[in-house]
Amino acid sequence: MCTITLINGDGIGPEICDAVMKIIKASGLEINWDIQTAGADVAEVEGTPLPERVIASILKNKVALKAPVTTPIGKGFRSVNVQLRKDLDLYANLRPCKNLPNVKTRFENVDLVVVRENTEDLYAGIEQMKDIDTAESIKIITRGASERICKFAFDYALKNNRHEVCVVTKANIMKLSDGLFLESYRKVAENYPQIKKREILVDNLCMQLVQDPTRFDVLVMPNLYGDIVSDLTAGLIGGLGVAQGANIGEDCAVFEPVHGSAPDIKGQNKANPTALLLSAVEMIKYIGENSYAEKIERALFKTLSQNIKTADLGGSATTTEFTQKVIENL
Ligand code: NAI
Repeated sequence: MCTITLINGDGIGPEICDAVMKIIKASGLEINWDIQTAGADVAEVEGTPLPERVIASILKNKVALKAPVTTPIGKGFRSVNVQLRKDLDLYANLRPCKNLPNVKTRFENVDLVVVRENTEDLYAGIEQMKDIDTAESIKIITRGASERICKFAFDYALKNNRHEVCVVTKANIMKLSDGLFLESYRKVAENYPQIKKREILVDNLCMQLVQDPTRFDVLVMPNLYGDIVSDLTAGLIGGLGVAQGANIGEDCAVFEPVHGSAPDIKGQNKANPTALLLSAVEMIKYIGENSYAEKIERALFKTLSQNIKTADLGGSATTTEFTQKVIENL
C-alpha cells in the first residue's frame, strides 16, 4: 500500500479532504494517508504554521495531497504554500484548465495548461520598509530557474501531445528581469524543434484569454503572472471550485487545488470537492495508478452530467450529497 502525505488545511480544507478520501477509498485504491496538520491553528500550538514534521513527511513519502491553508493578509506568518514550495524546491506549478461536462461556461473547447515558475520572482519574499512611508519588494529572476521551468514546460508539451509553448512576460517594461526569463525561454526552445513557439505580453494575454481562450495551449511564465493568470483561466472553466493544480520538483510533488480555504463557506457543507478531487486524480496518475484515476474521473464526470452540482456551479447539492453521488457512480 502506498503512503501519501495529506495536509488537510483549514477553512473548507478538512471537509473536502474527507470527501476525497472517501471517494478514493470507494474506488478500491488503498492509500495509507499520513495526515499532517498545518496552518493558523497549528501556528498557535507549535509556533509555526509549517512544522518540520510536515516537510519530513513529504520528503519521506515523496507525494502529498494538500488542501488550502489560510494565510493572514498584511502581517503574521509567511504563506505555508510559498514556504512549502521553497523548502521542497517544487519549482513547477502546473495548472491544467479544461472544460468539464455540464459545467456551463462562456467558452467551449478550452484546453490549456498554465506552467508557473514557483520559487522566485516577487514571491521570493524579499521585502523591507525603506522608511516609514516606503515599502520595497524585490523581484528576483535567475537564469537557472527560468531555464528549468521553460524546459519543464517543453517536456510537458512533448509528453502530453501539446503543440505550442507560449512564453508570457512583461519584458517590454521589466527589461532585465522579464528580459532574462524571455532569453531563457528562447535558448531552451531551440532544443524543441517539434513544438511551436510564441511570445506574448501578460496584459495582451489576459485580453485574449477572455476573448478566445482556445487560441492557447501551454503557457509558461514567472511566478506572479502565473498566480494571477491561473485564477483567470480557472474562471474560464467554471471557477475555483473545479480548478486543479500541482507543484512538482525533482524529488517530490504536492497536488493541490487552485482555490483557497474559502472561510466564507467553512463548515456549511457547501464546498465543492471537485478541484481537490481532480488534483488527487492527477496525483493518482503520478503514482502510476492510471486505472483508478480514470475510474474516479469517469464517476466525477458522470455525476456532473447528471446535473448533480454544488452551489458554486449553480447546483443545490451539498458537499456530502455530491460526494455520495460520485461514490455511487464509481
Ligand atoms: P478562496 O479561493 O478561498 O475563495 C474565493 C471565493 O471562491 C470564495 O467566495 C469561496 O467561497 C469560493 N470558493 C473557493 N473554493 C471553493 C470551493 N471548493 N467550493 C465552493 N466555493 C469555493 O480565496 P480567498 O478568499 O482569496 O482566500 C481565502 C484564504 O485562502 C486566504 O487566507 C488565502 O491566503 C488562502 N489561500 C490559500 C491557498 C492555498 O492554500 N493553496 C490558495 C489561495 C488562497
